[in-house]
Amino acid sequence: MHRGGRLSIAGRRQRNGSRTLTLFDPVDLGTLALKSRIVMAPMTRNRAGPGNVPGPLAATYYAQRASAGLVITEATQVAPEGQGYPDTPGLHSTEQTDGWRRVVDAVHEAGAPIVAQLFHVGRISHPLFQPERRLPVAPSPIRPAGSCYGPDWTKIPYETPAELDRGGIDRIVRQFGAAAANARAAGFDGVEIHAGNGYLVDQFLRDGTNRRSDGYGGPPENRARFLVEILEAVTAAWGGGDRIGVRLSPWNGYNDMADSDPAAAFPRFGGAVAGFGLAYVHVIEPADAGTPIARRISAAAGAPLIVNGGHDGASAARAVAAGAADAVSFARWYIANPDLPARLRAGLPLAEPDKATIYGGGAKGYTDYPPAG
Ligand code: PHB
Repeated sequence: MHRGGRLSIAGRRQRNGSRTLTLFDPVDLGTLALKSRIVMAPMTRNRAGPGNVPGPLAATYYAQRASAGLVITEATQVAPEGQGYPDTPGLHSTEQTDGWRRVVDAVHEAGAPIVAQLFHVGRISHPLFQPERRLPVAPSPIRPAGSCYGPDWTKIPYETPAELDRGGIDRIVRQFGAAAANARAAGFDGVEIHAGNGYLVDQFLRDGTNRRSDGYGGPPENRARFLVEILEAVTAAWGGGDRIGVRLSPWNGYNDMADSDPAAAFPRFGGAVAGFGLAYVHVIEPADAGTPIARRISAAAGAPLIVNGGHDGASAARAVAAGAADAVSFARWYIANPDLPARLRAGLPLAEPDKATIYGGGAKGYTDYPPAG
């Protein structure tokens, strides 16, 4: 029960017998039992079928990577309005839930637990993705710089989003709860709330995108209110927080994001979710961050820590051995190395992904990367 997390939260080096912990030691994140500390990070691959339903190729792709201690799905929208990219899967319809059930069954058959990453893109969308061509929504009407890909992959400039009112906020909170219930019905082992990378929850958390003067804006505890309400809905759907994770990205400027003082705000966001008994917090922080705050966030949340951020096998092993993380997630290495744990254990060279086939398409660059040897 929470053993791994608790000890390292206290800042003590964990021991397994007399050995320093390695990436290959098991760990419990809440009630998620991981056979190793190597996690497949969520990655958008834009290969959902009609109706944003994950298809048979997704089942193959994820099952090929089930030697991971934990598989986290690509970001999955909780509602049609939550979409901002072509062909990303959802978890709001019966067909999507049935598609995910086939993915989950394949991953379980292959031996890994799998959690669904739930998101809503907020302003990182375009009317072309929205029901009735409405404007995307956000905490404040601030247009992201730059452009996005439309449904047909042509580049189009972002528009100024509509500011959410109280009714709009309540509706999205309910959509997260409903998607979490669908994830449970599909057989997932848990869900991860995507509160990073400039999507809707992050737009509330960071003061560069949240200029609200109501109870959802201002000090960090107010900016965390939307996340807290989502966690209330999601933990109600799951009967507790011990299978629920939260992903945060304090330093990431991706999607035109900024915060005036992340080192102060993010540990307070951790404190704001401390009451939920979360399975983990998943923090994106560069492996070479000068002043790391990931452990401060997880300590404030009272939850184990998965770190992500440009790690290779050696830096990941150091992070776990030093107690700086309970587990490490890998994104790009998981694209072309389906058997990543075996390669790290044997010290084999890692294959580089083909950049041209990361987003969209079919089996090529998705399910055709072979295991080593
Ligand atoms: C992307 O599609 O570019 C994307 C999606 C989700 C993320 C990060 C990037 O968390």
